[in-house]
Amino acid sequence: MTLQEPSAATPPSPSVAAVVVLAAGQGTRMRSATPKVLHTLGGRSLLGHVLAAAEPLGAGTTVVVVGSGRDQVEAHLGQIAPSALPVVQEEQLGSGHAAAVALAAVPDLEGAVLVLNGDSPLLTSATLGTLVAAHDAAGSVFTVLTAEVDDPTGLGRIVRDERGAPRAIVEERDATAEQRAIREVNAGVYVANAGTLRRVLAGLGTGNAQGEQYLTDALAPLVEGGAPTAAVRAGDPDDVLGCNDRVELAERRRTLNDRVLTDLMRSGVTVVDPLTTWVDVTCSVAPDAVLEPGTQLRGTTSVGTGAVVGPDSTLVDCQVAEGASVVRSHCLGAVIGPEAAVGPFGYLRPGTRLDRDAKVGAFVETKNVEVGEGSKVPHLSYVGDATIGRGSNIGAATVFVNYDGVAKHRTTVGDHVRVGSDTMLVAPVTVGDGAYTAAGSVITSDVPPGAMAVARAPQRNVAGWVRRRRSGTAAADAAEAAEKRAEVPPGGRSDAALTDTEQ
Ligand code: UD1
Ligand code: CA
Repeated sequence: MTLQEPSAATPPSPSVAAVVVLAAGQGTRMRSATPKVLHTLGGRSLLGHVLAAAEPLGAGTTVVVVGSGRDQVEAHLGQIAPSALPVVQEEQLGSGHAAAVALAAVPDLEGAVLVLNGDSPLLTSATLGTLVAAHDAAGSVFTVLTAEVDDPTGLGRIVRDERGAPRAIVEERDATAEQRAIREVNAGVYVANAGTLRRVLAGLGTGNAQGEQYLTDALAPLVEGGAPTAAVRAGDPDDVLGCNDRVELAERRRTLNDRVLTDLMRSGVTVVDPLTTWVDVTCSVAPDAVLEPGTQLRGTTSVGTGAVVGPDSTLVDCQVAEGASVVRSHCLGAVIGPEAAVGPFGYLRPGTRLDRDAKVGAFVETKNVEVGEGSKVPHLSYVGDATIGRGSNIGAATVFVNYDGVAKHRTTVGDHVRVGSDTMLVAPVTVGDGAYTAAGSVITSDVPPGAMAVARAPQRNVAGWVRRRRSGTAAADAAEAAEKRAEVPPGGRSDAALTDTEQ
């Protein structure tokens, strides 16, 4: 399954003409150089979550009001929603002013407009769809989304009349003690008729505790004027929770993750420890995959059926095919083929492709490399900028020497090759099909198919050196004892001419 909508029941979505996201506020309480709506959870920015939730409503126009940190927000918007129209609110005079600025940018807009705060990342398309449907059914001109919460501190309260109809939204700072006791709060999500909203926003005052033009003040005058309005409670109060500081950000992140994991588990994925497993809403995991404790799946990562990821693994933008395993590894932009094995302690960097049944084992780093079917890099190696054929084995501590200090070069290793341990493959170089390299070789020129390449100094034994040069040490004593046992002539048998230092 794809987790575009973690807990949406995907009803047929009613539609709106436009979506307006209010995202100009500074977000002072985040205490951050990054604008609030760009803080991330579950693989998207706050703004990204809001836009994704609104997306199925099929609005022809999406306006995002930017102000604080507008350059950063506009750049981000260009990446995640290039068709959205950023509109600048030069001075942050309040949410009502922000909505008015948005509507002024689309003067011809008619019909229903969904206005929502940019800092409510748990909103779902289903909840928004319910809100719009209720707005339509009631023939309302202004409908506000609400929720019953245990702790309404800091939020606008929904004041209803004796018949239960909404009468006003009162900000906490402006509320009476009696109003503060109300636990039904304003979600900061509204559907309104565009023309009506324009008119009522134009008449907003600033006579409140913050001296701002409150969008929330749009409701009362409409009610007083006898216009049809409505207030709709969200089924899940979590949906409406905003995010004003980093404590709330962490709480929203946890809630979002719980939703993602719950959906995965219900779809047939084993999540061994939901408390230490984090999966972005943009990832997909197939049934019968297993996520071991300490697993993080991020970005566009997908995991196939029967694959096992973790414990303690982070996968960013990776594809893990069916039956593969990734143990205690860090993988970025890697494609891990069916039944392939990674780790423990692998570091797979972008461009890594493991074909079926390939293996990248303990303490191996890879980058920009294709490891062919059934080939193995089992231990302690660096493999960069290479193509490895099928059925080959790369001995422990092999390094693909890809960088000459200026440029990167490629190495090609054929099928059924045996690269000896501690081989340096100095690129550009090719090792032909079925070839071997001797352990400890520095391979600087191509190895023809079937050849054994030996590129290391021949071994010389300097007999008796330890007794002569390290006398009195435990090593010298051990050597003497061994010589006696083996009746080696004093001074030993030498197979080499001695240099001055070896005498
Ligand atoms: C707002 C609501 C409150 C509601 C709560 C839900 C108002 C007056 N109050 O309070 O009733 O319970 O959301 O989370 O709307 N913004 C602008 N320009 C501005 C001011 C704000 O774009 O000049 C944007 C902010 O970026 C934010 C949204 O409007 O996305 C709401 O502003 P914020 O200051 O977060 O309002 P709250 O105090 O949370
Ligand atoms: Ca807020």
